[in-house]
Amino acid sequence: MTSISVAQTKLHSHREQFPALANKTYFNYGGQGPMPQRAMDAIAQTQAYVQQIGPFGNEAYRWIAPQTQAAREAIASELYAPSETITLTQNVTVGCNIAMWGIDWHSGDHLLLSDCEHPGVIATTQEIARRFAVEVTTCPLKATLNEGDPVTIIAQHLRPNTRLVILSHVFWNTGQVLPLDKIAEVCRNNHSFLLIDAAQSAGLLPLNLTELGVDFYAFTGHKWLCGPAGAGGLYVRPEARESLKPTFIGLNGIVVDNQSQPVDWLPDGRRYECLHWLIRCILG
Ligand SMILES: Cc1ncc(COP(=O)(O)O)c(C=O)c1O
Repeated sequence: MTSISVAQTKLHSHREQFPALANKTYFNYGGQGPMPQRAMDAIAQTQAYVQQIGPFGNEAYRWIAPQTQAAREAIASELYAPSETITLTQNVTVGCNIAMWGIDWHSGDHLLLSDCEHPGVIATTQEIARRFAVEVTTCPLKATLNEGDPVTIIAQHLRPNTRLVILSHVFWNTGQVLPLDKIAEVCRNNHSFLLIDAAQSAGLLPLNLTELGVDFYAFTGHKWLCGPAGAGGLYVRPEARESLKPTFIGLNGIVVDNQSQPVDWLPDGRRYECLHWLIRCILG
C-alpha cells in the first residue's frame, strides 16, 4: 500500500466512527461537531450505570469522583496544561462570562476587543460597560487577514488602564489565526489580562496553553472536539487565579467546615464550577 492509500484507509475508518458522516458531507463543526458512536455510547452507559447504583448516594459519589478527575486530566493533557488550571463549564460563552465578570472592575477601566468577536461576547462587554462605567473599544483586526500586523495594531490600542483584552484565537468570520504568543507578551507588558475565545480553535489547532502565556482560554467540546452539547471548559493561568473571583458559586467549588459552612474556595479551577455532579462526569 502507498502512503496515500494508508492515509485514506485511516481517514475512512476514522470517519466510520461518526454516524452523522455516513450520509452527508458535513462542514458545520464551527457550530456543532458530529459525535462519534463511542461518545454517544459512553453517555448512555453512564446514565444507565448511575441509575443502577444510585442514582444518588455514597456509591454514586465514589464512582463519579475519579471519573470527573479523569475528564479534567484528559482535557488538560489535550491543552498541555496542568489539570488544576481547568474549570469544567457548559460552553465557550460560560467560560468567557466567568473570566469577564470575575475581574474586579473599576469605573474608568478600559476593555479592548477586536472587530471580529462573537456577538455573545460583545453583548457581555456592553453590560460590563453599563454596570461598572468601563470603557470598551474595538481594534480593527479584520483588515489584517492578508496584510498588516495584528500584534502592532493591538499594541497601538492598549492603554495604561486596559484591564482586559478579548480576542478569538481563530476568527469565526474570516478564519484568521492570531499569533497569540506575541500578543500575550504585549498584553503582559501592559499588565492587561488576555482572554481568548477558543470556540474555533480548540480541537482544530495543536495547543500548548502553558507556553502560549494567555490568562484565560475559554473552549468547548461540542464543536471541533466532537463532543456533546453542554461540555466545555475554561483554562485559567495559575498566576491569574487569585485575581479572578468566582461569579457562579456552588457546593463543588468551595471548602466547608465540619458544620457544612463555606470557609474558602477550592484552590484550583473547580472554584468557578457550578455544574451538577453527573454532568461533570458526562463531560468526560
Ligand atoms: C467565536 C465564537 N465564540 C463563541 C461562540 C459561542 O460558543 P458556545 O456555543 O460554545 O458558547 C461561537 C459559536 O459559534 C463562536 O464562533
